Amino acid sequence: MNNIKIAPSILAANFACLGDQVKEAARAGADYIHIDVMDGHFVPNISFGPPVVKSIRPLVDQFFDVHLMIEQPERYIDAFAQAGANGLTVHLEACPDLAQVIKAIRAAGCRVGVVIKPDTPVDAISGLADQLDLLLVMTVYPGFGGQSFIEESYARIRQARDLLDRVNPEADLEVDGGINQEIAARVVAAGANVLVAGHAIFGAKDGIEPAIARIRQAALSQVAK
Ligand code: DX5
Ligand code: ZN
Repeated sequence: MNNIKIAPSILAANFACLGDQVKEAARAGADYIHIDVMDGHFVPNISFGPPVVKSIRPLVDQFFDVHLMIEQPERYIDAFAQAGANGLTVHLEACPDLAQVIKAIRAAGCRVGVVIKPDTPVDAISGLADQLDLLLVMTVYPGFGGQSFIEESYARIRQARDLLDRVNPEADLEVDGGINQEIAARVVAAGANVLVAGHAIFGAKDGIEPAIARIRQAALSQVAK
């Protein structure tokens, strides 16, 4: 058994047929569906909210991994939980009282994730790392799909893995931004186990299924090492 999870980001899907794309990703073996919520404030871009989550919820059984790139995420926890989110991941930078937000996510019945931007020190989460189900280390600046992976991220992933190994070894370590087949192997070698990919999956010329298979195979090649 391994704990590698592939999480296609629907931000890169064709919104004109979002339901079909989500079903195709599920059939192709996606473990999580990664759902990027952007409010035009925390990040410059705007994506979608709870009604979209609710509309795709009945289509697949996959874990809905909701990445909230929004200010004051506590205002929307219940709405996303009711829409069918399984995990809610909030930005540390958006939460002056992160401990309280973590409690609210748990009270809403969701798995708790916290995410840090590329310029936030990994140490900033050390005091609450034992409270998390998932730590997400951004490997691009949040806001847009299709950016290039930031090379400095490998050291941050290692640092995050060390932190979790010390205080919360069961927690998932997720990476998000610019992940493709080659990078997948390297981030897993650095300690990540949940791999988000948008363009590398929904933009793959040969289709969603081979794209997921390639990323999974690259990731698994590092697991036994
Ligand atoms: C960036 C989002 C990512 C993004 C990943 O703000 O959080 O999930 O959609 O897309 P790719 O894999 O295309 O970088
Ligand atoms: Zn994301």
